[in-house]
Amino acid sequence: MKIALIGSNGQLGTDMLKYFTNKGEEMIGLTQDDIDVCYTDKCEPVLLKIKPDLIINTAAFHQVEVCEDEGASAFAVNSVGVKNLCNVCLSLDVPLMHFSTDFVFGADKKRTKPYNEDDCPGPVSLYGISKLAGEYVIKYMLKKYYLIRSSGLYGYAGSFGKGSNFVDMMIKLATGGRKIKVVNDQVLTPTSTKDMTEKLFELIRTGRYGLYHMTNTGECSWYDFAVEIFKLAGITADITPTVSSDYVAKARRPSYSVLDNKNLREAGIKDFRHWKEALKDYIDTKYNS
Ligand SMILES: NC(=O)c1ccc[n+]([C@@H]2O[C@H](COP(=O)([O-])OP(=O)(O)OC[C@H]3O[C@@H](n4cnc5c(N)ncnc54)[C@H](OP(=O)(O)O)[C@@H]3O)[C@@H](O)[C@H]2O)c1
Repeated sequence: MKIALIGSNGQLGTDMLKYFTNKGEEMIGLTQDDIDVCYTDKCEPVLLKIKPDLIINTAAFHQVEVCEDEGASAFAVNSVGVKNLCNVCLSLDVPLMHFSTDFVFGADKKRTKPYNEDDCPGPVSLYGISKLAGEYVIKYMLKKYYLIRSSGLYGYAGSFGKGSNFVDMMIKLATGGRKIKVVNDQVLTPTSTKDMTEKLFELIRTGRYGLYHMTNTGECSWYDFAVEIFKLAGITADITPTVSSDYVAKARRPSYSVLDNKNLREAGIKDFRHWKEALKDYIDTKYNS
C-alpha cells in the first residue's frame, strides 16, 4: 500500500514513518516544507501527484493556550485543512486517517467515567472546538475514514507543535533544579506514540473505518504522571501538586478526559498496555540506557 503521511517529522509522524517503513509499507513522509494543509494549492497537487492509497494526517495546531488567541490559525489547520484533505480523498477515492483529541470532551464537569465513542462531545476550549469541527467535516464529507482520538501523547521525537512533550519537559525542569508545580485536578491517560503506531498499523489491516479512541489503559492526573516520570527516571524532584484555579490560563481544560477504547476492542484488536508500562519503556530507552 502506498501511504502519504502528513506531519512526518512530528512525534507521532516520526514513529509511524519508521514503523510502517520497517513493516514494508511504501510510506511517503511529508513535512510542512512539502505540504501545507491549510491551502488547497499547497496540498492538492502534492497528493494528486503521489496518488496514495491512504492519506494519514497528523498535522495539527495544538498549542492549547495559543489557540485561544489565534483561533483563525487553529481552525485553518484543524478544520479547513481537514476539509482540503477530504476533497483530495474524494478525488482519489481513498480513505483518510486523521487524529483528534480527548479535548473534544470536558463540558460534563462531573464526569468520572471514561468516555467511549458513543458519548456526546462537548469541548471547553477553542482547540477542542476546532478539532471537533474537523471531526464533523470528515463525517460529513467522507465514508472511508479512520478518525482517531487520543490523549497526552509523548514520543521519542518530542512534539514539534508544543516544543517538547510532557515527559521530556518534566525531566528537563527537574534536572535543572527547578521547583515544579503540576495540576492534580485534570485526569487523563498518557499515551505512547510508539504503542499507538503499532495499533494503527493493525487497525488499517482490518479495513474497518470509523471513529476510534486510542490511548494506553489506566488513568492519572498530570501530577501523578509527573511523579511516575521522576520515579522511573530515578530523579529526586522538587514537585508539589496544585489545582487548575491556581493558574492564570486562557483555555479551559477538561477535569476528566479519560477515553475508553471500546471500538478498538470491538474491531478485535487487543487493548493497549497500562500507561505506566509504556512510560517505563520510553524512559528506559531514552534516558536509562
Ligand atoms: N500531543 C498531544 O498530546 C496530543 C493529544 C491528543 C491528540 N493529539 C493529536 O495527535 C496528532 C499528532 O500530534 P503530535 O503530538 O504528533 O503533533 P506534532 O509533534 O506537533 O506534529 C505535528 C506535525 O504537523 C505538522 N504541521 C503543522 N501544521 C501543518 C500544516 N499546516 N500543514 C502540514 N503540516 C503541518 C508539523 O510540521 P512542522 O514541524 O514542520 O511544523 C508537525 O510535523 C495531532 O492531530 C494532535 O491534535 C495530540
